[in-house]
Amino acid sequence: MNNNIETVFTYRSYSLQDTELLAAELAAAAAAGMVIGLDGDLGAGKTAFSQSFARHLGVEGIVSSPTFTIIKEYEGRLPLYHMDVYRISLHEADELGLDEYFYGQGVCLVEWSSIITELMPERHLHIKLATIGPQERLITVTGRGEPYGEVCRALIQKWGKDNDESK
Ligand SMILES: Nc1ncnc2c1ncn2[C@@H]1O[C@H](COP(=O)(O)OP(=O)(O)OP(=O)(O)O)[C@@H](O)[C@H]1O
Ligand SMILES: [Mg+2]
Repeated sequence: MNNNIETVFTYRSYSLQDTELLAAELAAAAAAGMVIGLDGDLGAGKTAFSQSFARHLGVEGIVSSPTFTIIKEYEGRLPLYHMDVYRISLHEADELGLDEYFYGQGVCLVEWSSIITELMPERHLHIKLATIGPQERLITVTGRGEPYGEVCRALIQKWGKDNDESK
């Protein structure tokens, strides 16, 4: 079986609410052991997405940016591990023993996952947020291997391959 097959879904977000709709859909599809990598420029919406995702996973209270703590744990329908590796090196990340989280019973959200590509599980869902305007984002969701391809196919089925204003 080839785990490197990628399934791509693109989503146009015109507001924070649009981004929340996508996060809600993915939170509903979340299962134990899922890993989601988030990338995009400063202010693109990685943390905003994570906050919406956490809320829809049933996490109560405030989900703040883990920039200074690197990993924060929350309890929702499933445990949620929210990480931000912006401030650490690949070597430092390696010392953290992230596999314990990646291969655990919770869901992992990793902001700036491209910094630690080598440490990410081969199979994961990758979300790239690109800032188009003050409120507009082009969000590219890539399923790398299964079951992430299936998650993407479900999004494509719901919103179309190249979702535009059909929400
Ligand atoms: N369509 C949108 N989707 C997501 N966020 C949006 C959107 N439109 C505006 N925003 C705003 O953009 C900001 C995104 O900030 P956020 O902290 O989530 O970015 P980030 O990618 O985590 O940045 P950093 O790399 O600095 O951590 C928020 O203030 C959010 O309200
Ligand atoms: Mg952030």
